[in-house]
Formats: sequence, C-alpha cells, structure tokens
Amino acid sequence: MEDLQKLETTIIGVITASDDLSQLEDIRISEVGKKGRVSLLMRELGKMSPEEKKIFGPKLNGLKNKINDTIAGHKATLETQELNLRLQSERLDITLPCPLENQGSIHPISQVMDEVAEIFTEIGFSIAEGPEIEEDFYNFTALNIPEEHPARQMHDTFYLPEDANGKRKVLRTHTSPVQIRTMMSGPPPYRIIAPGRTYRCDSDATHTPMFHQVEALVIDKDIHMGHLKWCIEEFCRKFFELDNVKIRFRPSYFPFTEPSAEVDIGCAFKDGEILIGEGDDWLEIMGCGMVNPRVLENVNLDPDEYQGFAFGMGLDRIAMLKWGIPDLRDFFAADLRWLKHYGFAALDIPSLSTQNHKAGGK
Ligand code: DAH
Repeated sequence: MEDLQKLETTIIGVITASDDLSQLEDIRISEVGKKGRVSLLMRELGKMSPEEKKIFGPKLNGLKNKINDTIAGHKATLETQELNLRLQSERLDITLPCPLENQGSIHPISQVMDEVAEIFTEIGFSIAEGPEIEEDFYNFTALNIPEEHPARQMHDTFYLPEDANGKRKVLRTHTSPVQIRTMMSGPPPYRIIAPGRTYRCDSDATHTPMFHQVEALVIDKDIHMGHLKWCIEEFCRKFFELDNVKIRFRPSYFPFTEPSAEVDIGCAFKDGEILIGEGDDWLEIMGCGMVNPRVLENVNLDPDEYQGFAFGMGLDRIAMLKWGIPDLRDFFAADLRWLKHYGFAALDIPSLSTQNHKAGGK
C-alpha cells in the first residue's frame, strides 16, 4: 500500500491550492468520489489479511475524513470570496440622484398633515398618537358608543379575528380613540391634535377603505363653545388662506359630544369645480362638539371640574378641497403621473411662517 502520509500531504496541498469552486469539485470526485483514488484504495482492504485491515482500515478512513473536511472548509472560504467579489461588483450607490423621470414628490396627504400640524402647534396644541389596530374599548365603548349602539353599524368596522380572550380588535374607524388614550395617559389639561390613518369598509369616489383624519381635543377648566368656534375659524382661515372664510355650525349628533355640531364651509360650485370662500353653497368639513360628560366619566375626570371640546375632520377631504383634486381613490393609486401633478417639492414645506405658499400643487 502507498505511503498514506505522503498521499495525504499531496492531496491536501492540491485542495488548498485550488482557487475555483468547480475545480475543487473535480478534486473531490477524483479523490473521494465513487471511483476516486482513496475510494479505490479502500476497495483493496477487501483483499487484505485481518491484521493488515486493522492497520490500514482506520488510516484510510482517517485520510478520507481529513480530505472531506479540508474540502468543506476550503469550499466555504471560496464561497465567501466569491460572494465578496459579487458584492463588490454589484455595489449600488443609493446616494446617487434618481433619474428625473422616476423622481417622487411629497404626497398631498403628507403636505396636508404638515400644514395642519403647523397651524395647531402654533396655537399651543401638541401632537398625540394612537395605534391603528385599536381595542373596541377605545374606539367605541369609552367614547359612549356601547355594544348595542346604532353608531357602531354606521362605522362599517373592519374587525380582526377573536383573540384568546374572545375579544376582537378593530382597525380604528376614526381618530377619536386617541382622545381616550390621551385622557387616560395623565392629568389634564389637554390640548392635542391626532392626525392619522383610519379604516372603514367602504369604497367609491369619495370613500376609500383607508383614509385620514385629524382629531382635536381640548380639556381644561372653563372651556366653552366659544373656544371651539374660534379654533375652527382660525384653522379654516389659515388652511384655506382666506381672511373672510364663511363658516356655519349646524346642530348634529355624535355620541361622544354634547352638544354636537357639523361644520360647513361656504363655497360655490362652478363648472364642476368647488371654490372655497365664494358663493352661497355649503360643504360639510368636520364634526365637533363639547366632550360628553359621560366620556369624561369614562376616563375618571369630574365633568363638574373639567370640560372641553373635540373635533374630527377628514384630511383627504380638505386636501381635495384645497387643491381641487376630484377623486379620492387616486390618492392611493400610487400613480407617479398623478403625484407629479398634485405632489409637492421636497422643500415646499408648510409655509404659513414663510408666507410664500402656493395653493394648487406644483
Ligand atoms: N369621529 C367622528 C367621525 O369619524 C368625527 C368627530 C365628530 C370627531 C365629532 C369629534 C367630534 O371629535 O367631536 O366621524
């Protein structure tokens, strides 16, 4: 039998010298493959005497294992080298400017959110948030919409499957649950707005299953409807950039406010277009009211000590009005051509402070 030690040194040398995965595979086949050199040597064991077998058997096995291990180790090294080479050659510089025809811009919803946030933070509101997957308690019960209340049907709620406790979470149907979360998170006073996504099972030119709202809540001692009215008027003046905006409060009903009202803004319908601030028509833009004492009780506030107001408004809706965008569904169609027309340049920041804002998209 050959000098196995010498053989081992030769084979290991060939393996470690190989610098290519397919070459390494060839070496494996020719040494330890079915008809490989070492395999053929193993066959010779059959012809040996029991004594010789005892000596050469373990030696040959050891050689085979050593070769297999070395091949596996070297293979891993070569694979890493190959991957590194590929990573080098396929490198992508994401800081390179994107081709002009693919460039995106600020979506009108983002722009509207920024503008709303700017208007309200300037008069002392802060921004609050809540989850989009909401508990029934915050979305309905605590807002004075108990289990059997008809308002639940009106919300076209998306329900999630039951959890282990038999409870079903919902996709929040409005931003009003953030009122409850805010009031439960610490003591009054509160002065917050909560912009965000909301969901209802509804779809046509003016409804999409996902849409956006902003909620406002003010709770303190001695807050009255006059404060609510001023806040809304101030917001409309600034948002629509009109000094003489016409606003009307129409009595309405919401379970979480008492009294409740809907706010209409003066407008004109001309040639299929809506012009804000002109004419004798009215368009509803939000719901509002004084927070129902029952809601305050639900969050352990004493209604004799604290009162406040709330309102909720559709952000998509006011974006459509401000920039004359006709179909709500287009907002979420991810069509770059639409975004090019209605989007805003990255630095077209809400400009109430810089006074050079231009309405009507780019
Ligand atoms: N949550 C109401 C809705 O989605 C809107 C609303 C109405 C919010 C009156 C309020 C409010 O805070 O006071 O339809």
